[in-house]
Amino acid sequence: MPLTDPLTHYRCPLCQLMLQSSPSGYQCANRHQFDRAKEGYVNLLPVQQKKSLDPGDSADMIQARRRFLEAGFYQPLSDAVNQLLATALADTATFRQTITLLDIGCGEGYYSHRLQNFLHTGCTQEAETNASDTTTQVSLYGIDISKAAIKAAAKHYKQHQFAVASSYHLPFMAESFDSLLRIYAPSQSDELARVCKAKGWLCTVTPAPQHLFELKQRIYQDVRLHSADITGEAGFCHQQRQQLSWRWQPETTTQLEQLLQMIPLGYRLTPEVRQLLLTDLPAITLDFYLDLYQRQG
Ligand SMILES: C[S@@+](CC[C@H](N)C(=O)[O-])C[C@H]1O[C@@H](n2cnc3c(N)ncnc32)[C@H](O)[C@@H]1O
Ligand SMILES: [Zn+2]
Repeated sequence: MPLTDPLTHYRCPLCQLMLQSSPSGYQCANRHQFDRAKEGYVNLLPVQQKKSLDPGDSADMIQARRRFLEAGFYQPLSDAVNQLLATALADTATFRQTITLLDIGCGEGYYSHRLQNFLHTGCTQEAETNASDTTTQVSLYGIDISKAAIKAAAKHYKQHQFAVASSYHLPFMAESFDSLLRIYAPSQSDELARVCKAKGWLCTVTPAPQHLFELKQRIYQDVRLHSADITGEAGFCHQQRQQLSWRWQPETTTQLEQLLQMIPLGYRLTPEVRQLLLTDLPAITLDFYLDLYQRQG
């Protein structure tokens, strides 16, 4: 049985009242009931918010992503996110007993778990240095519209709270989170602003211009680069941008196959181009923007 946060921040996706945690799941005062799956997650995605029968990334994409991420190929990105948020949250951590985090479009939980672990370790060390009796607790929630992703996340990382939900209708009470993380997933500013505490943080990761350039070159005649514009998020002030780029050299066909399986671009390759790529094993540019926003107070 996973640990449950007694202070549930969930709200009912049907009537918006707070959800109370019980051994079998969650319930609102209007008696809408959401069972906890055996893996520990809860499904808070009502049918009317589903655009297809099985939305989001498929089980195959999730499996490939897990293997690729666990091999550490995107670890520089995860480390940079952790460092950015740890610095931003440093003041908050000093004064609060609990830091609550939400990873939006968390996939199979790789970044979520590493972030929680990093902040928890930092808070424990700080408490030891200051000979303090109380350590700040770091509580992490992750949502994704893909049931396969959430199932995989909950199975692997039992200490966090995972829910199937849409980023456009976040099933959380207002001002629940000290920080939001959004890696690649879509979202709506109003919803982000609603669930974030005043002066809380939003970290987004988006592709920078050269991301996957060598793959695009083989698919499109005219390669269109990703935009370098900074997207405004209503209710937040943009604070800083970091660009993180490196060239990844696949060493085996399996490694490259995993990358191709976990990105939508991989599904656009013709069998011939795919074969050529797997034979050539070209170095591939990975290029990201990390943007940090602060919720207006
Ligand atoms: C490219 S993946 C990134 C996943 C994860 N953050 C990572 O980098 O490993 C984007 C994720 O967003 C999810 N997603 C897409 N549309 C969504 C929506 N409307 N609400 C919540 N999640 C969504 C997908 O299922 C997928 O897991
Ligand atoms: Zn309800």
